[in-house]
This record gives sequence, structure tokens and C-alpha cells, in this order.
Amino acid sequence: MKASDFHVPVACAPRLRPEGPYGLLPRALPIREVCRENYRILTFVLDDDLPEARPGQFVMVWLPGHKEAPFSLAYHRPIALTVAGVGPLTKAMHRLGPGDVLWLRGPYGHPFTPESGSQHPLLVGGGYGVAPLAFLAEHLRAVGQQPVAFIGGRTAEDIIGVARLEALGVPVFVTTEDGSKGEAGLVTHPVSRFLAEGRGDALYGVGPHGMLRALARLAHTHRVPAQLSWEAYMGCAMGLCGMCEHDGVLLCVEGPVRRVIP
Ligand SMILES: Cc1cc2nc3c(=O)[nH]c(=O)nc-3n(C[C@H](O)[C@H](O)[C@H](O)COP(=O)(O)OP(=O)(O)OC[C@H]3O[C@@H](n4cnc5c(N)ncnc54)[C@H](O)[C@@H]3O)c2cc1C
Ligand code: FES
Repeated sequence: MKASDFHVPVACAPRLRPEGPYGLLPRALPIREVCRENYRILTFVLDDDLPEARPGQFVMVWLPGHKEAPFSLAYHRPIALTVAGVGPLTKAMHRLGPGDVLWLRGPYGHPFTPESGSQHPLLVGGGYGVAPLAFLAEHLRAVGQQPVAFIGGRTAEDIIGVARLEALGVPVFVTTEDGSKGEAGLVTHPVSRFLAEGRGDALYGVGPHGMLRALARLAHTHRVPAQLSWEAYMGCAMGLCGMCEHDGVLLCVEGPVRRVIP
């Protein structure tokens, strides 16, 4: 018997590299451009689109010799990822340039959705959590809402993403813990003030868990809905491995965006 006797008709052949959101294997996508956001964060613009992707969703990124990790979509047309160099994978990504390749699968996860009845949503980001806020602001403006953004960081050097939001016509309030830019203190302070003055009717948050817990408390106090994007270690991104469990939910499929109803 020869190998050709085992020919599998194309229609029955296993799809080793399936396309679409739940494709199991990553696709190699060339980097078009790398933009420096600050001393530790770069934005990678890739040579492809994910037209079906929504703000708040993430992709899994892989480089040969490294683990895979999740990254929020900073944009989808073209794909853009804003990446802090914190460990082996992200530091290896930071050594890449235009023409090099990132391996991606996705998009995955539950996106942000416009709150019905909201006119003045407040968008809050800390650190690289600012990454998806302009994508989200564009989405909310397209349905007639007028978002206001709040960006927090430790120092002036940690603040990113202001120009992209302002270019969309979104007012931006900056806070730094050391007072080196904008208002001194935590980003939740001006957000709390806006809510107390009735100048916000929905909250969207991406950033450290402490900031998200504070936003959840504000949502309850001021009785506004909140959508918060929670981070966890992820393995499969498809609800199979259990690695992303947080407070009894699998964040890769039931998050990362979770809705708080006051
Ligand atoms: C839904 C989602 C979206 C994300 N979006 C972005 C993004 O847009 N930009 C970005 O830079 N990063 C993002 N991350 C985080 C990124 O996936 C991790 O930082 C990744 O592990 C980095 O890999 P590494 O090998 O470089 O560093 P690692 O060695 O994996 O991590 C470096 C340090 O970060 C800590 N860490 C890593 N991941 C987590 C986690 N999930 N929770 C708590 N601590 C952690 C580790 O303990 C370690 O101290 C996202 C994570 C999730 C779950
Ligand atoms: S990452 Fe595997 S179940 Fe969520």
C-alpha cells in the first residue's frame, strides 16, 4: 500500500489552521509599525484586520520559545496591541520591529457593550489598561453617547493614550499619584466627583484589580451600571483549562468584561 492510497478528499481533511474566532492555532501576522508610548510600553500595529472584534475583547499572542499570553485589542482595523514589557514574552516582543511576526489567535472574550439609556459614560483606565479605551470611545460615540475619559498613573511618565482620545473629541482627565501631571491622587477621585455631581451615568473600567474594585463600589454608591475588565492568568482562552478562574467565573469566556448592576 502506498501513501497516496490514504489521500483524504479536501472536503474531509482536518482543518489544521482553522480561521475564525475560535481557531485553535495562531496565525503569523507581520508587524507594520511599532510606536513607543512611554519608557515601558510599546504599541504594535499589525498588517491585518479583525473586523468582527469588539472593544474589550482580547487576542492570545505567541512567540516561538515563549508561552502564549492575552492582550486587549487597542484597535481592530488594523489590529493594534499596546504592550508593557514586564516579563519574558513581552520583553521578547519589545525586541521586534516592522516586518517581524507575531502569532495571534482570537478575538476572544466578552466585549464592552453600550449601556442603553446612557448619554455620558465615564471611561477609566490605569497603566496599559488605557489601551482599549479609544477603541471603546469610538464605539460609544457611534451610538450617540458622549464619553469622558479618566487616565491614572503613578507619575507623568506612566500616562499614555491621551492624544488618541482627544483626537476623537473625548475630554480627558489625568491623575498621577505623585502630582507630576494632572490632578494629584487616584483616578477614582475625579470619577467619584463626576458621579456625585450627576455628570456620569455609566462606568467602564480597565486596569489593576484595586481600581476595578473601587469602581464597583462607586457604581453601587451612585447606582450606575459598570462594565469592568478583569485580568487573570490565561491558558486556553476557550473555557477548557480553568486557569482564568476568578470569583467562580472563567474570565476567558464569561469575561474579561463583567457587568456590575447596582
Ligand atoms: C484579558 C487580558 C488582557 C490583557 N491585556 C494586556 C495588554 O493590553 N497589554 C499588556 O501589556 N498586558 C496585557 N495583559 C497582561 C499580559 O497578558 C501579561 O502581563 C503577560 O503574562 C506578560 O507575559 P510575560 O511573559 O512578558 O510576563 P510574565 O512573566 O507572565 O509576567 C510578568 C509579571 O506580571 C505578573 N502577571 C502576569 N500576568 C498577570 C495576570 N494576568 N494577573 C496578575 N499578574 C500577572 C506576573 O506575576 C509577573 O510578576 C492582559 C491580560 C489579560 C488577562
Ligand atoms: S483560560 Fe482556560 S478556561 Fe479560561
